[in-house]
This record gives sequence, C-alpha cells and structure tokens, in this order.
Amino acid sequence: MPKKDIVIYPDRVLKSKADPIENIDLRVVTLAEDMTQTMYKAPGVGLAAPQVGEPLRLIVVDQTSGKEDDNLIVVVNPEIVEKEGIRVDSEMCLSVPDTSIDVSRAERILVKGVDLKGSELRIEAEGFLARIFQHEIDHLNGVVILDYASFLKRSIYLKKRKKGKI
Ligand code: NI
Repeated sequence: MPKKDIVIYPDRVLKSKADPIENIDLRVVTLAEDMTQTMYKAPGVGLAAPQVGEPLRLIVVDQTSGKEDDNLIVVVNPEIVEKEGIRVDSEMCLSVPDTSIDVSRAERILVKGVDLKGSELRIEAEGFLARIFQHEIDHLNGVVILDYASFLKRSIYLKKRKKGKI
C-alpha cells in the first residue's frame, strides 16, 4: 500500500519552490521509498516530493512505471544543466487529474544531482525520459502543466475541481 496520498492542484505546496535537501537522512530515504510505491501504484512514470506534500527537492522517475526492472532513478536536488532541441508533446500529471496539456520541452538534457548515498549523478536523457525529468523538476519550482495551458483550459480545470468533479 502506498503510504502517501497524491496532492491535487491547486494545493499550495504545488505552487511553491521546494527546498534543497541538506542531509540525506533516514527521513529522506523513507520518503523516496514511499514516493516510489505511490508512483507505481498510481501508476505514473515520475513523482516529485511536493506531490506528496513534502516541499523538498527530490524526484523519482521510472519511464516503464515498474514494468521493467532497473529503470528507477531517484535524484536528490536535481538540476538541468544543459538543454538541446525542442519538441511539443502532450503531458498528464497525477496532481492534475483528467487533463492533458501540450508542453514544449527540450529534446535532450543533462541532469545533475545526487543519489540516496550522496554520490554525484550525471544523467543524459532524451525524448520521453528527458520530458519526464523536465516535468518533475518543474514541480520542484512550483510549476505544473496547467501553467503551460491557455487561460480557458486552466479555468475549466479549476471550475471542475471546485465542483468536486475531479
Ligand atoms: Ni506532474
């Protein structure tokens, strides 16, 4: 059973900039495990700590959503240091139910950060994986897919949410 509920937009934690993680202690390791379970249960291909109500710079990514082994990537304090190319594709988000938005992303990126053991990570990603990283890192900066949507689409979502339809 996932131990965490997914926070739904427009919750405040999803609009705030998350804090860097100073110490990778048991709390952070446990949070990463809980987020991974929650992501697989959803199912989703990525999750950021603010999506479970924790304003910390931590993401979990698995482009197979657990269908294949060894695809889980956990990054503490991830940062995009290089970007190349542009591609528009539709995206969904576990925190923005029933909504897909076209988002323009870099086609190839270089992500730096650290793993749960504190070792430096350097991940080159392209295509779908690069898109997931950019989406999850957006969450750490208080940005969700609705921020890329038209005013109309955003207000339709907020109206549905207010009426409890999503
Ligand atoms: Ni999302």
